[in-house]
Amino acid sequence: MRVDGRPYRSIWLDEDGRTVVVIDQTRLPHSFATRRLHTVEDAADAIRIMVVRGAPLIGATAAYGLALALARDPSDGNLESAIALLAATRPTAVNLRWALEDLGRILRPLAAGDRAAAAYRRAGEICDEDVAINRAIGENGLALIEQAAQGRDSPVNVLTHCNAGWLAAVDWGTALAPLYMAHDKGIPVHVWVDETRPRNQGAALTAWELARHGVPHTVIVDNAGGHLMQRGMVDLCITGTDRTTARGDVCNKIGTYLKALAASDNDVPFYVALPHPTIDWSLADGADTPIEQRDEDEVLTITGRDEAGQETKVALTPAGSRAANYAFDVTPARLVTALITDRGVCDASEEGLQTLFPDRAAGAPSS
Ligand code: MRU
Repeated sequence: MRVDGRPYRSIWLDEDGRTVVVIDQTRLPHSFATRRLHTVEDAADAIRIMVVRGAPLIGATAAYGLALALARDPSDGNLESAIALLAATRPTAVNLRWALEDLGRILRPLAAGDRAAAAYRRAGEICDEDVAINRAIGENGLALIEQAAQGRDSPVNVLTHCNAGWLAAVDWGTALAPLYMAHDKGIPVHVWVDETRPRNQGAALTAWELARHGVPHTVIVDNAGGHLMQRGMVDLCITGTDRTTARGDVCNKIGTYLKALAASDNDVPFYVALPHPTIDWSLADGADTPIEQRDEDEVLTITGRDEAGQETKVALTPAGSRAANYAFDVTPARLVTALITDRGVCDASEEGLQTLFPDRAAGAPSS
């Protein structure tokens, strides 16, 4: 996608062919800055503190992190400790495990001297594949928006939660890809953007992306969605996911489940867009998904730009109050109208996923 007319991906290799460059998402929406990752520790930190975030981008960053590790020391021991370091950064997005398993399988049999080049090559392929996957999700989801647009002269109102746009992936995004394609095709769309406390990925990142691309949108507080749905102001919801089970249960940013409940109560279609590496074939029941709990400081404080243009962190709660910070929740498959995947649209069920992925057996390892 373009930023000020210049095409960007969310992660790329510097001209030296070795250093990894990412967009620093902790600085958005107020500053557009990049960060250079030189070591596997830099890559692990970038994932942990959410310089990069979003399941597909976390996977791509981990892949490049492994390449950075092997460029310094391609030994067996370093390969295994780099995999362990990266795997421990965030527990929920399954693309992280998928990418590390994929690279591990390729790299372990190689002679040490061949590993770094092979890791860079595969990390680059994972990025290119991610772009193709998200383009396909966009095309498959576009049909649903076209359907909703038929016979009306007002924009299609779509509600989304968190950020599942190009910043969460390598390009295009998952949930936002169909919206970008609809907008580019001249179909009027308007996006309700959940602010997505506590890290505000909606208010900070989704709104920034949509604004840069010229897609009409309105930021709403996380609790507004139910009211809008009751009033007929939402035609459909599309969210992303960090891990979807072989039975179609969807783990995504905290608050997604409540939106799905409201959608179900108001007969609003609730779609989830996902690239196939986000399917955890080894897991059937969403309740078994590991749910990340993050620092309470993310709930107790908020960072924004003050009137003088300075970024400032302020306290939101009385001194001494404690907070719980569950980062994800699970929406049961029964509340999901359909899954929009790179292979097509299917029922959120084991049978539905099997129709698109007959080569994958439920209960099998993910990669
Ligand atoms: O904690 P984050 O920002 O990494 O979580 C990302 C999400 O939960 C998004 O909603 C997204 O849909 C999953 S990644 C496309």
